[in-house]
Amino acid sequence: QANPKAAGSAFAPSNIALCKYWGKRDAALNLPINSSLSISLGDLGTRTELRIRDEGIASTSSRRAVEAMPSSLDLVYLNDALQSPDSSFAQRISAFLDLFRPMLGNAGFEVRTENNIPTAAGLASSASGFAALVMALDDFAGWGLERRKLSMLARLGSGSASRSVYDGFVQWHAGTHPDGSDSFAEKLSFQWPEFRIGILELTDAAKPVGSRDGMNRTVETSPLYRSWPTQAGRDIETIRRAIQEKDFSALGQTAEQNALSMHATMMSAWPPLIYLQPESMAMIHQVQRVRADGLEVYLTIDAGPNIKLLFLEESEADVAGSFPGLKIIKPFEEVP
Ligand code: PMV
Repeated sequence: QANPKAAGSAFAPSNIALCKYWGKRDAALNLPINSSLSISLGDLGTRTELRIRDEGIASTSSRRAVEAMPSSLDLVYLNDALQSPDSSFAQRISAFLDLFRPMLGNAGFEVRTENNIPTAAGLASSASGFAALVMALDDFAGWGLERRKLSMLARLGSGSASRSVYDGFVQWHAGTHPDGSDSFAEKLSFQWPEFRIGILELTDAAKPVGSRDGMNRTVETSPLYRSWPTQAGRDIETIRRAIQEKDFSALGQTAEQNALSMHATMMSAWPPLIYLQPESMAMIHQVQRVRADGLEVYLTIDAGPNIKLLFLEESEADVAGSFPGLKIIKPFEEVP
């Protein structure tokens, strides 16, 4: 029942999990073992534009390269640069579009993706990327899907993308159904305008193992993973309550312990998954030092070496002073 427009477009924010998603119970449907809770990053994320491939429009910037590509192939641009169809970036997008192609005329698409996320900051661009892609598809096809459906579709591209269809605090319910019909994200209605996130670009060292393989290896081989689902279940409740009561200490402590526990499960996998670099370790110790000196700041880390700081507006000047080069995000003040 598609009613395609000439082009669809959408923006989706990146997000950072305070209670992490780590481990799949179904790899094809991206169904998680545990529920997770995140904060979206306001106007930092991905804008995507999508249309049926049209030689006349597409060939403006790179005519030769475009003409060499069969018209059944998607033209995928990242920050204005045409990506090779063999690149993992283009292949992930095309594989995802294959799910919808039969209902949209079986054509090649032109997809233009712009990320305004600092590339080396270790912020998941796959989360905002697949959320923006699904929302652009919905806009293009005129489906008018509700957010919950968009969240489930984005989940198929990347688990964390299920959370990027909303602003603010977001909970992704793991669900129990084998078909994934109850595995979607939901926005928590609480605002916290004083909430700040600091991003430290420590290193752009490539990740040794992507999140998909990393999760599978952890679930299969890590003895510490056995305690993870129970801990995550407890942490998500504590964080929910902390958001509701604006108890920043409880939120920060739980988020930091959750992230380091996830890294403990990774390290006890075999072969070991060590995403932390020497720079990450130095920063973890520095956060502990400044906290011992009375500055209330906590950290979280995803499947990579970079550190994200959590603090409140009242500590902003002191945190910026302690961590030179920090990029500060105000998730509730910069909603587009
Ligand atoms: O959505 P994926 O497959 O890129 O996995 C994300 C995993 C973490 O970033 C480590 C945790 C999370 O909940 O975002």
